[in-house]
Amino acid sequence: METSDPPTSDIANAVEQSLDKLGVRDAAGLEGLFARLEQRLRDDVGQVTTGGRGPEDIEQLRVRWLGRKQGLVRSITENWLRSAPAELKADVGKRLNALRGSAEEQIASIARQPTVDKWSQPLSEPVRQRPYSAAAPGAVEAAPVLAGELDITLPGTRRTIGVEHPIRRVIREITEIFLSLGYSVEEGPDIESAYYNFEALNIPEDHPARDDQDTFYVDPQTVLRTHTSPVQIRTMEKMQPPVRIIVPGRAFRHDAPDATHASMFHQVEGLAVDTHITFADLKGTLDYFLKAFFGPEVRTRFRPSFFPFTEPSAEVDISCIFCGGTAGCRICKYSGWIELLGCGMVDPALYSYVHYDPARYSGFAFGMGVERLAMLKYGVQDIQLFFQGDVRFLHQFR
Ligand code: PHE
Repeated sequence: METSDPPTSDIANAVEQSLDKLGVRDAAGLEGLFARLEQRLRDDVGQVTTGGRGPEDIEQLRVRWLGRKQGLVRSITENWLRSAPAELKADVGKRLNALRGSAEEQIASIARQPTVDKWSQPLSEPVRQRPYSAAAPGAVEAAPVLAGELDITLPGTRRTIGVEHPIRRVIREITEIFLSLGYSVEEGPDIESAYYNFEALNIPEDHPARDDQDTFYVDPQTVLRTHTSPVQIRTMEKMQPPVRIIVPGRAFRHDAPDATHASMFHQVEGLAVDTHITFADLKGTLDYFLKAFFGPEVRTRFRPSFFPFTEPSAEVDISCIFCGGTAGCRICKYSGWIELLGCGMVDPALYSYVHYDPARYSGFAFGMGVERLAMLKYGVQDIQLFFQGDVRFLHQFR
């Protein structure tokens, strides 16, 4: 005899009775019941999607399946699961969970689709009776104004697309060049201890860089980092040579804002420590980087300088990118050179803070201001423009 499989429409009634009443006593029986439920769910969902129904219909569907009081899932819990014989309980629970999951997923997925609203209904009579035809006499006023239903002559909703901020863009450009040289990227905290920001970088207590003038103090032992150099120490503390890192990030100084100063700005730090690293490696690396960043025609120049954490130290200039180094423009003050960044060989004093053997290892470090590089490369005259969020400025970096 054929077991009478009730049609799927009856499955809704079946959930009102216990499994026992339905005569379902094994896994195969359960399988059949739940298969019909899944089928029913697909049918219901299909009706809403193909029927072009609106948000209320989706809500109705949700209540029917997932409603807390009368939903099908709820009824199955009440009528099948509760009274299921011990050996079937786990199975019922598992299948019920799967059903609930697929109901949630399918209903959420139609809810995500663009809502079907009156625009997708057939156009009303008067509209259909007035087809647009350019040839028709008196059709000069052209497009049909559709009787309050749909005016296809209205402009659409334009989605404006943003642009990468120029500072992020320059950080990315710098990072890509150094990644290609085998460097990796490290980061450190903006709020930094005086130990990492100053002391371990060989900046003594009485150094002018420690003045309240330049530094935002959170408390006597804590500052907003005035440069990205503290990450040199943090990195050497946690890894052994060879070290090749760059550190993009924010820095803070108590400076009055003007065309070239802001109290928050960005730097990219670089650090390479290994055996046999010399000043020639530093020169070659920065020369390569600056040509890659500004163009192959730029020349570089290293001038002696001083930083407490490098010895010897240098300031790096590039040939003026505006007059081609001919000393013929105001931007380079008729010198032909533009000062760009600070660098030097890591002062061996730092190695004692991080327990590197100074007899074995040597290295170089450099630090550059991202805003300065961005202003030169993109011809920006005022650093404040980077922080004002004016889209007329930002859109030029498309
Ligand atoms: N930290 C220095 C500054 O902010 C720059 C620098 C970094 C110099 C690394 C040398 C080596 O001015």
